[in-house]
Amino acid sequence: MSLNKYLIDKIINVTSKAAISCHKFIGKNHKRNADKAATDTMRDEINKLEINGKVVIGEGELDEAPMLYIGEKLGLGGNLNLDIAVDPLEGTNFVAKNLPGGLSVISVAEEGNLFNAPETYMDKLTVSKKVPYDATDLDFSIEKNIKNIADSLNKDIKNITACLLDRPRHGKIIDKLKEMNVKMKLISDGDVSGALMVTDPKYNVDIFLGIGGGPEGVLAASAIDAYGCKFQGRFIFDNDRDIYRAKKMGIENLEKKYDLKEIIKGDSIFCATGVTNGDLVKGVNIDDNKYITETLVTHKGSNMCKIVLREDTIKT
Ligand code: FBP
Repeated sequence: MSLNKYLIDKIINVTSKAAISCHKFIGKNHKRNADKAATDTMRDEINKLEINGKVVIGEGELDEAPMLYIGEKLGLGGNLNLDIAVDPLEGTNFVAKNLPGGLSVISVAEEGNLFNAPETYMDKLTVSKKVPYDATDLDFSIEKNIKNIADSLNKDIKNITACLLDRPRHGKIIDKLKEMNVKMKLISDGDVSGALMVTDPKYNVDIFLGIGGGPEGVLAASAIDAYGCKFQGRFIFDNDRDIYRAKKMGIENLEKKYDLKEIIKGDSIFCATGVTNGDLVKGVNIDDNKYITETLVTHKGSNMCKIVLREDTIKT
């Protein structure tokens, strides 16, 4: 059975409901409450679907997360066996502090097609589809990647924009980009959204790079695939616990660089609903006794990349 329109609508419902459930926590400076509301709702909504779902990217492992842990089985059953990656609330700080960019995110693929990853950091690279695939690489120097992008796009280096998380660990990259006179878009959080900035010229970002969450990398890869852009990632296993977990999940080469097709195979559906207003979508809005939500939906199988608006009546 394929990932059809019926399922797309159901998945949009899942992230919309999760986003709505944390609306009341916007600006309450309590990350955990907002995250818990989104997680509980997402789990309840997925459990109403006629699927055999398995969480492959989740809120942690069984010993640390009671909900949506890696390996958790979800759904009412049926013929559709799915791998599910979730980030019920991506950008917990944004929601707690009432800042732009909070999202509720999910990706689903047929069983065995979505990378089963532990919760570690990942070194990532995403690049616009206008740049030839081989022109950039996670193993190239920053200089080589930027120069190749500038040459491919026939742009001056000073007009190339690189997006990355504003973190001390990126000090050397930031210094290099500064030295080269590259424009930077330094984001405080939310690198699912950051990685997707290369998908449309309207965001004015040519390359996204640097180290962020591995789960966020896998989720972004699913949407990047539908847009036909480039994605590469390398998990960072730098302590005994993460190395143990990676090996338990069957990852043998801990240094491996993954291309998009190794992270996500075949068809997939990606949905990201805005909690607070952001670059990709608007946040949850209340109008005339209704919640209005915006969801970015991609479906690889039908080349769908669009924003869907929904209205949900507020129950009193
Ligand atoms: P949360 O929503 O879990 O707080 O994650 C936000 C985020 O900015 C992610 O988008 C990103 O991948 C990760 O945190 C980066 O981690 P760190 O803050 O440790 O650099």
